[in-house]
Amino acid sequence: MKKAIAVVGSQWGDEGKGKIIDYLAGGADMVVRAQGGSNAGHTVVIEGKKYALHLIPSGVLNTGTVNIIGNGVAFDPEGFFDEIGTLDAGGVDTNRIYVSDRAHVVFPYHKRLDALAERARGADNLGTTLKGIGPCYMDKVERSGLRVCDMMEGEAFIKKLARRVDEKNEVIVKLYGEEPIEKENVIEVYAGFAKRLAPHVRDTGVMVYDALSSGKTVLFEGAQGAMLDLDFGTYPFVTSSHPITGGFSVGAGTGAGINGEIIGIAKAYTTRVGAGPMVTELTDETGDRIRERGREYGTTTGRPRRCGWFDGVVVRHSSRVNGTTGLALMLLDVLDDFDEINLCYAYGRAGETIEHFPAGLSALEECKPLYRTMKGWKTDLTGCRTWEDLPTEARAYVAAVEEIAGVPVKIVSVGPGREQTIVRKELL
Ligand code: GDP
Ligand code: IMO
Ligand code: MG
Repeated sequence: MKKAIAVVGSQWGDEGKGKIIDYLAGGADMVVRAQGGSNAGHTVVIEGKKYALHLIPSGVLNTGTVNIIGNGVAFDPEGFFDEIGTLDAGGVDTNRIYVSDRAHVVFPYHKRLDALAERARGADNLGTTLKGIGPCYMDKVERSGLRVCDMMEGEAFIKKLARRVDEKNEVIVKLYGEEPIEKENVIEVYAGFAKRLAPHVRDTGVMVYDALSSGKTVLFEGAQGAMLDLDFGTYPFVTSSHPITGGFSVGAGTGAGINGEIIGIAKAYTTRVGAGPMVTELTDETGDRIRERGREYGTTTGRPRRCGWFDGVVVRHSSRVNGTTGLALMLLDVLDDFDEINLCYAYGRAGETIEHFPAGLSALEECKPLYRTMKGWKTDLTGCRTWEDLPTEARAYVAAVEEIAGVPVKIVSVGPGREQTIVRKELL
């Protein structure tokens, strides 16, 4: 019997995936990352102590869980060993972390090219995390990338890497007029990474298959969110991978998809970091209040997040493309203080009601949110532990989200801690 559960972002990332993955990882044998890279920032708070994870699966904080970085991840060895160092220093067991031999590797020239491309975009920049994600996936698709298995090939790897650095330096110097990357230094550093990485390298697709086939519980950890998906997000203001459930098929090798529960993580409001359309954005004092109450500043880059009301069009769209079986509604406590709370159920555009998220940027620009106004609960929710503990107005809000999104809310979160989680139906 296969037991799989996927956790995916239903908005523009930072929905609180890290908290829920950590919460569910207690009942899982294996946690798997399948896309993105160190652009992700997943925060987990355990007994008041905060852990920020970027590349390493959030299951690592549970002893006994096997953690997999799958073939679809843009693997950044520098970020990886930094994180291992921090976890080791905190007494966390980092021996059960395995990296796919098929994962593409991020090199310093990817990060440099990420920054140079952003600079060249000028006012139209995407606001990337500058972690080299786009350039690394560009090489993968162009078939010139280097993979973890290449790193394990000694001299042959050094030769390939030297050639790549020369090629990228041509672009850096001739196109952008910048100083070249220091080849000898990159080679030395990456030869060192290769040695340290060797004990972690596996054919992780086989590990995932074996775990599922033998009835183990496997938790698939999404990074980013559906609205940052290359195909289904707000292109070109997206990331360069597929943060949707389908991303696990190619990024971890799960075959046709996830045969199990698919939990879409959504904030009780909306945030976005970086540029691009956001129909329910509030640039006024209400937006500032949400930002301050929710401490909405990025885990990876520290940038203030753009804030707005819950967008039902977004969550309906992402629930469809993810095949979501249940939502986790996060940070409900952030709305404790509001007299009234707005829920966007559709967009209005030129007298028309729009139910499905439009593709084009100019169409989106013309969309205005249509709101249902709900009464606030004006009560501190952070101590609630059961559904019955929640005030009537808060329950009505959750019910309205379910109705608008068309998916049941299976988890409600009322604070960053593990214990501040209301599970309406045990998932594992
Ligand atoms: P992720 O990228 O989806 O894992 O989300 P982030 O970790 O980037 O951002 C979510 C933030 O919200 C983190 O700082 C969490 O500690 C915090 N958080 C998660 N759930 C809750 C909640 O229910 N209430 C509050 N107040 N904070 C939460
Ligand atoms: P988690 O996993 C929020 C955004 C960037 C930028 C766009 C492209 O913590 O939810 P990239 O560096 O990926 O090329 O940047 O995507 N972005 C995220 N926003 N949460 C994330 O991850 C993100 N990862 C990338 O801000 O707008
Ligand atoms: Mg994050």
